[in-house]
Amino acid sequence: MDSSTPVVFLHAFPLNATMWTRQAEAVAPRRVLAPHFPGFGGRAPGEATLEAFARAVLSDMDAAGIEKAVVVGLSMGGYVAFRLHALAPGRVAALILADTRAGADDEAGRAKRTDQAARARREGTRWMADAMVPALLGETTRRERPAVVAQVRALVAQADAEGVARALEAMRARPDSTPDLARIRVPVLALVGEEDTLTPPVEANRIAEGVSDGRLVVLAGAGHLANLEAPEAFSAALGDFLKMAG
Ligand code: MLT
Repeated sequence: MDSSTPVVFLHAFPLNATMWTRQAEAVAPRRVLAPHFPGFGGRAPGEATLEAFARAVLSDMDAAGIEKAVVVGLSMGGYVAFRLHALAPGRVAALILADTRAGADDEAGRAKRTDQAARARREGTRWMADAMVPALLGETTRRERPAVVAQVRALVAQADAEGVARALEAMRARPDSTPDLARIRVPVLALVGEEDTLTPPVEANRIAEGVSDGRLVVLAGAGHLANLEAPEAFSAALGDFLKMAG
């Protein structure tokens, strides 16, 4: 990888690619691709698998003329980054896996996805901000950063019900990526908010230790949406890693 390698940013659930605005600016002058997954940001819903999401990203890379990129995925974006690497390892120069986990859902997690998908189809997505924002944001952000809380609520409010339902089904069906960790040969940064309760630092540590060239950065005062909660620290960690990895 050299300093002209583009960066592909993969967004969290139930947000969209605009969550990456600050980091896209921070990595300039590198080229950036931040696609919406199918069913988000006005893009039509597609097949309900994360592999299909990864294939959509690969097509977007093709369309943009990007052969190989540093792939940054946060939470669901991280799940998709694992699938993308499994499908096309040669197109990944390095990985930043933020606030995510390698493992699959357990039975209780799958049941919750089923209920939430049914609720989204039945009622739309208005209930989601109240139901999800407390877990998406760390306690420091909920206490001290009302603008970030409002920003995340607004992003969640944009989500489309069918897109949400299919993403939930896709995450419910995702395979365990833990066996893939040993096959990842590119540099990996596992980045996590210290106050992330959905995918806590122990999960990031598992990723950093499971790959051949991994490192861990824990961001103080940030929860699950670490790039929105601590944008400067997140971008600084990203910048340091990009410099180090090439
Ligand atoms: C996300 O932030 O993308 C979600 O919390 C992921 C998940 O529900 O597993």
